[in-house]
Amino acid sequence: MKIAVIGGTGLIGSKVVKILNASGHEAVPHSPSTGLDLLSGQGLPEALDGADVVVNLTNSPTFDEASPEFFQKTMDNLLTAAEAAGVGHAVVLSIVGAEKVPGLVYYRAKVLQEDILKAGPLSYSIVRATQFFEFIDAVLSWTADENTVRLPTTRVQPMAAADVAQAVADVAVGPPLQGTRNVAGPEVFALDELGKITLAARGDHRLVIADNSAGMFAATPRDVLIAKDDAVIAKTAYRDWLAR
Ligand SMILES: NC(=O)c1ccc[n+]([C@@H]2O[C@H](COP(=O)([O-])OP(=O)(O)OC[C@H]3O[C@@H](n4cnc5c(N)ncnc54)[C@H](OP(=O)(O)O)[C@@H]3O)[C@@H](O)[C@H]2O)c1
Repeated sequence: MKIAVIGGTGLIGSKVVKILNASGHEAVPHSPSTGLDLLSGQGLPEALDGADVVVNLTNSPTFDEASPEFFQKTMDNLLTAAEAAGVGHAVVLSIVGAEKVPGLVYYRAKVLQEDILKAGPLSYSIVRATQFFEFIDAVLSWTADENTVRLPTTRVQPMAAADVAQAVADVAVGPPLQGTRNVAGPEVFALDELGKITLAARGDHRLVIADNSAGMFAATPRDVLIAKDDAVIAKTAYRDWLAR
């Protein structure tokens, strides 16, 4: 199967390309560094030529008020070009519980991305993942100073990027879901607890302070980022991943 992976040089995209090629498919990564700009559409017809499937793993450069426009424009361009190229299946990676956090503009932007895909002309699949382990350091950095890290008690169920990529690759080579597959990590943590585990594993002696007004996830009601019973549970545990 020929699969165009837009955002195929990113954290998840590069892993998806590797998994697909290792299993005998022809996955080609595309991004600005390979000459494709999904915002302008430049390079898109060439990237989609002959593709059976397109997987969109791009990300907005910012999580702020600019993110809805990024996802709107990139999805409009993608769907128009993919329809013209006769691509049979479009896959997008979104976030578990995104529609339940309207206070976060980035999450609203991800729901917009899903809605454009659902209303569009292509057969589609949405994979919704929980927060990536690899994203936790960024979360800690937002509200850290020399001595403390302030984190809300919001509960999360994070997962390894490698497990996210496997889930995306599995969906990409299967029949279009015309719906959503949820994937999540094997354990639930309060974010402040996750901060303590992370700092301890690194020998970082800063103090974690529970603060329900701190950082982006302060806007998140307590349990909405936790997967429901229908989710596929990934195998990698956070402490094992940290220890590697
Ligand atoms: N972080 C989380 O915990 C989480 C959880 C669930 C879902 N997600 C979703 O997962 C997706 C992938 O995230 P990620 O962390 O893998 O992203 P990432 O590492 O930031 O990679 C983004 C990719 O998009 C490409 N890109 C950016 N602007 C582009 C443009 N205008 N045209 C074409 N390609 C462009 C980048 O190319 P360059 O490398 O050339 O810049 C890169 O390949 C995102 O949509 C995000 O919403 C994230």
